[in-house]
Amino acid sequence: MKTKVYFYSNKGSNRFLANRIANDLNCEIEEIKPRLNAHMLMMMGINLGNRKLKSNCEDYDRIILCGPIWMGKLIVPLKNFIKKHIDKINNLVFVTCCGSTFEGKDKKFGHNLVFNQVKELAGEKCNHCEAFPIVLVLPVELRDDSSAFMKTHLNSENFKGEIVDVYDKFINKFTDNKK
Ligand SMILES: Cc1cc2nc3c(=O)[nH]c(=O)nc-3n(C[C@H](O)[C@H](O)[C@H](O)COP(=O)(O)O)c2cc1C
Repeated sequence: MKTKVYFYSNKGSNRFLANRIANDLNCEIEEIKPRLNAHMLMMMGINLGNRKLKSNCEDYDRIILCGPIWMGKLIVPLKNFIKKHIDKINNLVFVTCCGSTFEGKDKKFGHNLVFNQVKELAGEKCNHCEAFPIVLVLPVELRDDSSAFMKTHLNSENFKGEIVDVYDKFINKFTDNKK
């Protein structure tokens, strides 16, 4: 299956995750660039759209879209991406390295809220959603400490342990010769 990873990242965790996925699936990757790349303004809903992509989504069998969650919402650059390209997307997989935990996935800022927004926009084209909670790289005693996880960013040093277990299952699911 010809796959492409598109990502947006502000602090680097989703950049790391997207690059890792593209590397392991041996596929192309492209960064989504909002015309106004100002995190606070985008969070307030100011939306000037994204810059034009260098590639065409219809050239791929599967699109993996990767980016963070802010305030329980599908963030502006990712929402713009889905709305603009959904007609040309054959199969969409949404992944996020986020702050919310598996236990908190249905709570106010939980990732399931965002998964539902993606499914609403993409309909049946949304094949799968996967969360990689950043707390999984922290020791258990720091996982409820919001200041600890807000300061933590995924990188090659801390990408180990539980988060890798989740990641390996994800990659196995999308490695074609294992399907
Ligand atoms: C202002 C702000 C709001 C956030 N809100 C949420 C949220 O509602 N739910 C969640 O799961 N994570 C939330 N997070 C955590 C981010 O999704 C997480 O830190 C993510 O890994 C950042 O990705 P990046 O490093 O690629 O920018 C928030 C982070 C920031 C900075």
